[in-house]
Amino acid sequence: MAPLTIAIDGPAAAGKGTLAKRLAAHYALPYLDTGLLYRAVGRRAAERGIDLDDPQATGEVARALDAGEIDEASLRGREAGELASRVAAHPPVRAALVAFQKAFAADPRGAVLDGRDIGTVICPQARVKIFVTASPQVRARRRTEELSAKGRAVDYERILAEVRERDARDAGRLEAPLKPASDAALLDTSEMDIETAFRAACDLVDRALDAERRA
Ligand code: CDP
Ligand code: CDP
Repeated sequence: MAPLTIAIDGPAAAGKGTLAKRLAAHYALPYLDTGLLYRAVGRRAAERGIDLDDPQATGEVARALDAGEIDEASLRGREAGELASRVAAHPPVRAALVAFQKAFAADPRGAVLDGRDIGTVICPQARVKIFVTASPQVRARRRTEELSAKGRAVDYERILAEVRERDARDAGRLEAPLKPASDAALLDTSEMDIETAFRAACDLVDRALDAERRA
């Protein structure tokens, strides 16, 4: 039986990371947050004064990236997410990051990866694909609550506008746009808390594995 690879995709703040981490722990699989790669490229390009709309120059930054040296804590914020989504539209940037992600996904122990194009580009053969969504309003509320819990003053309307803008850019780009793979299961978590979403995802994984066993 092939190793268990689980592909999690979806829009900003849908709960991909939270879900992917829990699935990885539950099924004892390594986990990769692929958004961090794009965040690191966006941040580095900005720090060096590189034009974020320049595909070649940002592609160069992506080719020079050492994924082992990414400092997660400094890349979590909204600003890095915005920088990431700008550089992520460029084919040279995406091309430079593919090999690392595919190698991670080919781990003989299996893997969980989350991002935008895991089920469509990085792991088209994943045994389980889940497209996690929630309404823009729910996602903006979650982000707002997350930030206020950290003591940051945030405006819900502004976060909602950012969420919509990032969705539009990620879904509208020509290269690897945000969209569910044709064989992905949709998980709308608008009405689900984290525990309910986790159980629903486990159900999807277990059902997919059952179906394979019966086939
Ligand atoms: O990785 P992604 O940006 O898709 O989302 P996340 O960082 O996992 O989740 C965004 C926020 O929503 C976090 O604060 C989660 O705790 C929260 N969340 C939630 O309240 N209910 C869910 N069903 C999923 C996530
Ligand atoms: O956690 P959140 O959904 O806010 O963002 P993220 O997953 O860290 O991704 C940041 C940005 O990187 C996204 O808005 C995408 O533009 C880009 N990205 C991508 O294009 N492909 C991926 N596999 C992962 C992220």
